[in-house]
Amino acid sequence: MTRLGRFAGACLTFGCLAAVSAATLPPQPKPAATPVQKAPFGTTKEGVAVDLYTLTNHHGMVAKVMTYGATLTELHVEDASGKPVNIVLGYDRLEPYLAGTPYFGATVGRVGNRIARAEFTLDGKTYKLAANDGPNHLHGGVKGFDKVVWRAEEVKSPTGPAVKFTYRSPDGEEGYPGTLDVSVTYTLTDANELRIDYRAVADKPTPINLTNHSYFNLAGDGSGDILGHIVTIAADKMTKVDERLIPTGEIVPVKGTPWDFDTPTAIGARIKQVPGGPPVGYDHNYVLRKTDAKGLPELAARVVEPKSGRTMEVLTTEPGMQFYTGNFLDGSLKNRNGVPYTQYSAFCMETQHFPDSVHHPAFPSTILRPGSEYTSTTIYRFGHQ
Ligand code: GLA
Repeated sequence: MTRLGRFAGACLTFGCLAAVSAATLPPQPKPAATPVQKAPFGTTKEGVAVDLYTLTNHHGMVAKVMTYGATLTELHVEDASGKPVNIVLGYDRLEPYLAGTPYFGATVGRVGNRIARAEFTLDGKTYKLAANDGPNHLHGGVKGFDKVVWRAEEVKSPTGPAVKFTYRSPDGEEGYPGTLDVSVTYTLTDANELRIDYRAVADKPTPINLTNHSYFNLAGDGSGDILGHIVTIAADKMTKVDERLIPTGEIVPVKGTPWDFDTPTAIGARIKQVPGGPPVGYDHNYVLRKTDAKGLPELAARVVEPKSGRTMEVLTTEPGMQFYTGNFLDGSLKNRNGVPYTQYSAFCMETQHFPDSVHHPAFPSTILRPGSEYTSTTIYRFGHQ
């Protein structure tokens, strides 16, 4: 094979951009890697120590994650002029998290989103779960994965600094069957991506649906509302819900409705037309368009913040995504500088299986059985226009 032939082959296999830069540019010296930093972050009411890990990639992007709730507390991303700001809601102390936040940055489980009537039947047996959203179960219950202390260790990854969190959820926790061993790995890649890999195994059949509940404001934490952010979601359908946000089982088209983000649209353009509430806003699960990428993460959404020029793409292996616009933020919580978190201060893109799947056999199954492994990957990729 000629040199060109080999090059064309590499192009087809790995993508031309990577092949061209490797073939034509002299090797670029990489700045020295910044080691993952670990620091104490406080102690829970039960006396358990909590640690904070700081990940810094080769471009100076910074992610901070703590063992309480395997939570992302800060994410510093540059704008078009190179100015970094923290673009997720959160705190630099443990106390506000212990006092309670609406899942700021947390890992949510064992089953994220809602389970109607806080119960389900699996293999003929009915399980009663903690009811923490009226009569329904939300985000894993009263003490979900967001409120437990995870173990953590730095792991070596060729793509960037990484920390792996592990947690053993006991049989019966919040009503769920079986012991579940779960891990969540955050990697801050040198391609300016925050990659989150989830894995779990169980010793009895159990539902599982893990997600991350970061609240993003691409102009910066505490910088006002997100109504001017331009959003595109790779979906033309959503799961219809009742007034308590429980799916009816119908999958409905979004075209021509206020939920249609198939083309780039400002969050605020039609938010007041969203039926339901108060509070009014987006809090709905999109059925992502899939292209059979053999289990690889696919593009679910793209967000542009016009003033800073920051962009975020969400890629996931999950079939759904809850688009939530911080409708329940009512100003009672303040950020670290005293700025109230009011309605629409941030948005969430919670990649997930569909809500209440345990009651809808037509939805992709959330049941994990012994001998199988649950895996899920979501990537938040940052850039600027
Ligand atoms: C999810 C839910 C919302 C709300 C938030 C947390 O996004 O869908 O209804 O519970 O979490 O406040």
